[in-house]
Amino acid sequence: MGSFEGKVAVVTGAARGIGRAIAEDLADRGADVVVCDLRKEWLDESVAAVEAKGRKSLAVAVDVGDGDAVNACIKEVMEKFGRIDIMVNNAGITKDTLLIRMSDQDWDDVMRVNLKGTFLFSRAVARPMMKQRSGAIVNIASIIGLIGNAGQANYAASKAGVIALTKSTAKELASRGVRANAIAPGFISSKMTDALSQDVRDQMLANIPMARFGEPEDIAKAVAFLASDEASYVTGQCLSVNGGMVM
Ligand code: NAI
Repeated sequence: MGSFEGKVAVVTGAARGIGRAIAEDLADRGADVVVCDLRKEWLDESVAAVEAKGRKSLAVAVDVGDGDAVNACIKEVMEKFGRIDIMVNNAGITKDTLLIRMSDQDWDDVMRVNLKGTFLFSRAVARPMMKQRSGAIVNIASIIGLIGNAGQANYAASKAGVIALTKSTAKELASRGVRANAIAPGFISSKMTDALSQDVRDQMLANIPMARFGEPEDIAKAVAFLASDEASYVTGQCLSVNGGMVM
């Protein structure tokens, strides 16, 4: 895969898990990486990991559901780096419960972070990327956004929304040289999935043809492909990375 040398990437939810792996992988491939999460101090290790690879980094504390904070973040990135080549919308949360027990708050919180956050950052980077006449947006959706899941009506709807948002973004920006794609990860080892009971984990494993959970690095490699020039004719797609769990 080509080098990202001279390119600037922004990754949300980059303090840990999949976002952290994406930030490190992009730095490995030569990109300078802006890492975003709710608290700046959570990002110290991510910044250190990017800098250890000889790349520039910047930590920005931003709640992805807050439009003013998102716009301020992208303004700061443009002032400091002068361009944005890769936007990875990775920040996400779950608030799982059965539909009949789901509160308005459970619904709103998940939609705000997962779907509105992706919209706000996509909108904020669209103008600078269109001006550059180049850029790649990669949105982290979920297998649950494709197939649904009991206990995750809010999460499933938010991730299905992310896929539809990605397609609309791709259609609007394609003629300006900007691509937008989504990734639908399956079951990936992380804090989010560590919280599941052994029973649920065993059940999921039984449904994965490759008979292993994914690692954050598996998602990072797919992001690198979609963000790279190797994918220059790929836009509006949702790439499943799930060990064959859903085909
Ligand atoms: P994680 O919980 O380990 O990391 C999520 C990160 O997002 C955390 O650092 C958190 O602080 C940050 N975050 C949460 N709310 C935020 C907000 N309002 N503003 C800014 N940052 C915020 O989760 P994980 O597993 O690394 O997931 C990353 C993405 O991948 C999420 O979008 C998730 O839905 C998606 N995903 C994960 C799967 C898995 O099996 N782990 C499967 C499918 C999708």
